[in-house]
Amino acid sequence: MSRPEVLQDSHNRVIRDLRISITDRCNFNCVYCLPETEEAANFYQPVATGAKRPASVPGKLLYPWKPRSQILSFEEITRVAQVAASLGVDKIRITGGEPLLRRGVESLISQIAAIDSIRDLSLTTNGTHFPRLAKCLKEAGLGRVTISLDSLDRDNFKKITGRNGLAEVLKSIRLAKSLGLTPVKVNAVIIRGLNEHEIVRLAKFAMDEDIIMRFIEFMPLDSRQAWRRDHVVSGDEIAGRIQSKYPLTRLPADNPSGTSTRWSLGDGAAEIGIIAPVTQPFCGNCNRIRLTADGKIRTCLFSHHEHDLKPSLRDGSGTAELTAQLQQIVLKKEPGHRINEPDFVQPARTMSLIGG
Ligand code: 5AD
Ligand code: SF4
Repeated sequence: MSRPEVLQDSHNRVIRDLRISITDRCNFNCVYCLPETEEAANFYQPVATGAKRPASVPGKLLYPWKPRSQILSFEEITRVAQVAASLGVDKIRITGGEPLLRRGVESLISQIAAIDSIRDLSLTTNGTHFPRLAKCLKEAGLGRVTISLDSLDRDNFKKITGRNGLAEVLKSIRLAKSLGLTPVKVNAVIIRGLNEHEIVRLAKFAMDEDIIMRFIEFMPLDSRQAWRRDHVVSGDEIAGRIQSKYPLTRLPADNPSGTSTRWSLGDGAAEIGIIAPVTQPFCGNCNRIRLTADGKIRTCLFSHHEHDLKPSLRDGSGTAELTAQLQQIVLKKEPGHRINEPDFVQPARTMSLIGG
């Protein structure tokens, strides 16, 4: 019997996980992603260096939204998902920007959920539009959600995201649980001087709410390119701060390609994850690729080169051609990010244009 075809890169990593960004738009301006607000400028100001960065003009986006004609249709996205699934991808995450800003997202979910071999279909959201859409997303076949929540303080939440949305996000977390979109994961990006003082409180939130809280190191993917190493609160420091208050025990990895280290908190009261791509890179086990809303495959969050699938999707290329193209692209996957190398250059695309 012949071996099933897979997506294998030139470093022997097999791709199983596809992250699909369905829009570059967002209604938040998170400091670590789209810091194009006055508050964000004020936060970064005191530490700004003379480094050359994109200039920000009030009221004008540094990265204007892409026109509709450049954005893949749901049919085109589903086609890529089908090809990837035929090559062994079994995990798909829908992201953005904010994916729930795209009209009809539930119909995309049902098209992807209908692909037999997809065993894990999830979505990352900032939670603002989730209460309105949650039920139909569940009915369409969504398996679980990840919700961003970087602060439990109303004012700090606004400072970090540019929006007054804490109450809505808390509502979303509870609703996701009650609808069984579980395990509900909650992402908190920790930034020095901004929300490091909330780490213990966020850990307690995991116990109180029975969700998996994931603490994430700040990565250089923001639109102002204002990231600096001293903004990063390391995974070790995060664990140390939690440990000073609650017992924390390391759990075995549930997935060899997982990004987070798993911990049991408060003698089994909750699980938390710590994602430390900057201080403890996990590129060697990476099994992910990303499809951007405008049809580019990115083989790494930090790629400087991307591979455009849109021409093939729009020129009538057959499935065999698309399959071969995807396999060729994956062969070029970078061995890893170079954040810790002296010649590291931040990619031009922000997280909002790639998808978390
Ligand atoms: N560093 C780390 N995580 C980030 N995210 C967005 N930007 C960054 C960054 N610069 C994460 C957030 C969000 C998800 C979409 O991506 O946690 O939940
Ligand atoms: Fe929007 Fe998500 Fe970026 Fe925040 S992290 S600005 S919610 S895309």
